[in-house]
Amino acid sequence: MRRRLIAGNWKMNGSRASLVELDAIAAAAAAAPGVDVAVCPPFTLIERAAARQPGLAIGGQDCHAAPKGAHTGCIAAAMLVEAGATMVIVGHSERRADQHETDADVKAKAEAAIAAGLIAIVCCGETQAHHRAGETEAVVSGQLRGSLPVAAGDALVVAYEPIWAIGTGLTPTAADVAAVHATIRGVLVELLGRARAEGVRILYGGSVNAANAAELLAVPDVDGALVGGASLTAEAFVPIIEAAAQ
Ligand code: PGA
Repeated sequence: MRRRLIAGNWKMNGSRASLVELDAIAAAAAAAPGVDVAVCPPFTLIERAAARQPGLAIGGQDCHAAPKGAHTGCIAAAMLVEAGATMVIVGHSERRADQHETDADVKAKAEAAIAAGLIAIVCCGETQAHHRAGETEAVVSGQLRGSLPVAAGDALVVAYEPIWAIGTGLTPTAADVAAVHATIRGVLVELLGRARAEGVRILYGGSVNAANAAELLAVPDVDGALVGGASLTAEAFVPIIEAAAQ
């Protein structure tokens, strides 16, 4: 049985004052011992977040593939570890679009993250145009073949996030999510072998909220959620943690 993971992605939101939200989130996590709960705040808040709630998993939103060097503005995986992070999101669609990250970049980042001892949450997802054209499964499979580190075991998590569902209030149907997650599991088996593939959690992300979490989490092969907007406050995030604990 894979443990469910509910991970919050604060993106470029939050300040020191926002860390008060972690208190109720950590309390909800403690009340849901079967669920792993993580929050990925901006880099500048990781160390304080980890110190404030040592029982809560804290993650980064990106890392560089290199361990150190002349890369102004970038963060190495080991730096995240030193700050108190235990996981990192790589290949989010916003970074693939805004920073032009390729599948090969994402794979190198995931490998660096895992080598540094982090759990790597590797994101994939199709555009609205691909969705409408019926190309979702081909696009997602291609992204994963290019982005997944082949040596990864339990330290790998995949997040399926349709780009058109992120921040829009739109979500795919449960049947569509089930089909894509089954495809992703198939790609994992192909790349990692059945035994290791069965251990990889596949999260759904894109407009997850208190109202739709239970339905999405009930879909086969949905092992948790990557939550953006609804992770910014405990009020919005805690009901999603509670839905995962059911
Ligand atoms: P959203 O973002 O929950 O605000 O749609 C999800 C994500 O981008 O990870």
